[in-house]
Amino acid sequence: MVLFGGRSGEHAISCATAGGVLRAIDRDRYDVVAVGITRAGQWVLADDDPDRWVIRDGRLPEVEDTATHVLLPQGTADREVRVVRDGELAAPLGAVDVVFPLLHGPFGEDGTLQGLLELADVRYVGSGVLASAVGMDKHMMKLVLAGSGLTVGPFRVLPAGREVDAATYGAVVADLGLPLFVKPARAGSSLGISRVDDAADLPAAVAAAREHDPKVIVEAALVGREIECGVLGGRAGASPRASLPGEILVTDTRHAFYDFEAKYLDEAGVTLACPADLPADVVARVQDVAVRAFEAVGCEGLARVDVFVADDGNVVVNEINTMPGFTPYSMYPRMWDVTGVDYATLVDELVGLALERPTGLR
Ligand SMILES: Nc1ncnc2c1ncn2[C@@H]1O[C@H](COP(=O)(O)OP(=O)(O)O)[C@@H](O)[C@H]1O
Ligand SMILES: [Mg+2]
Repeated sequence: MVLFGGRSGEHAISCATAGGVLRAIDRDRYDVVAVGITRAGQWVLADDDPDRWVIRDGRLPEVEDTATHVLLPQGTADREVRVVRDGELAAPLGAVDVVFPLLHGPFGEDGTLQGLLELADVRYVGSGVLASAVGMDKHMMKLVLAGSGLTVGPFRVLPAGREVDAATYGAVVADLGLPLFVKPARAGSSLGISRVDDAADLPAAVAAAREHDPKVIVEAALVGREIECGVLGGRAGASPRASLPGEILVTDTRHAFYDFEAKYLDEAGVTLACPADLPADVVARVQDVAVRAFEAVGCEGLARVDVFVADDGNVVVNEINTMPGFTPYSMYPRMWDVTGVDYATLVDELVGLALERPTGLR
C-alpha cells in the first residue's frame, strides 16, 4: 500500500512523492494499492496513475474525498484491507504485506501513523513510533542527539500555551544573538520558519511559527555549508549505510534561506549539488555523523541527516528527517543515485527492509 497525502501542511509534497514512487515501483513484483489520506484525514482509494500526482506549473496536487473509504485490519487476526463504498462494506481489497507511508509532517512522519500500523500489526517502511516522534520534534531531536555526543546548535524552546513576554524575547536575543531562526517545533518543508535579523521582528516570527505548532523553537544561526546525507538501514542486522553527501546552494538572494518556495517552486533559485564538492575527510566525517544520528534516534529504514559544515570542518547537525522528500528530484534519492543505488532500486530496497523486519517490539 502506497499511502500519501495526509493532514499536515506537507500534503501536496507527499502527493508528489507518491507520484515518483508509483512511477518507479516494479508492478511485476508488487501489487500496488494507492491510498490517499485527505486533508481531513479520510483514507480513500486513490488514482495510482503517477501523472495525477505531480507539481505542474506551480500547482500542487491534493487527495480528494471519494465515496470509497479504506479500513486497515481491525486486529491482528488477518491483514485484510477493506473498502467501504457509499457506506456499504465492499469486497475485501486483499491482504496488505507492507505499507509505504510517504507522509511528511505531523500525522504521518511523527509516529502517530506508525502507532496505528503497529496496532493493526501491519509492516511498514521506515522508522517506528519513537524514532518518528523524536525526529519530528526539533526540540526532542536535539536533546537525543546532544545526549549521544553529537553537536547541535544553541537553541531555546517557547513551550505551547505560554505567552511570551518582552523579558523572554530579550533573553532569547541576549542568549542566542542575531540572526535567529524561529521554527514550529514539529513541521517540515520550512513551513512557518522565519529568519529574524532584527529583534523587533521576533514576536511576528513566533506568531507565524505558532500557526503551525504551539510549541516553537528558536535557534542561533548556524554558519557553514548546508550539507545533507542519506542513510539507509542495514540488511539482516548489518550497520546502516550512508550515501555520498549533497549540498544545498541557495543561489537566488530573494530566498533568505532554503524556504518552501526554494524547495519546491523555484527550481532556478536553488542548486542541489550532488555529490557535494567536499574533501574526502569531510565526506567521511559527515557520513559518520549521519550514521550516528540515525542510530541515536533509533531510526529504521531511511533518514536524511542535515548538517552545517563550518570552515574549520566542524559538523553541526541541523535536523534528521525520518521521511525525507522522496520525489526522483529530491535530495535523498539523488544522493543514493550518485552512490550507486538508483531510484527504483531504492524503493525496492526500502520495501525489502520493511518486509524483513518483524512487527511489534523489536
Ligand atoms: N539554525 C540555522 N542556521 C542557519 N540556517 C538555518 C538554521 N535552521 C534552519 N536554517 C535554514 O532553514 C531551512 C529549513 O530549516 P529546517 O530546520 O531544515 O526545517 P524543515 O524541517 O522545515 O526542513 C534549512 O534548510 C536552512 O536553510
Ligand atoms: Mg530541513
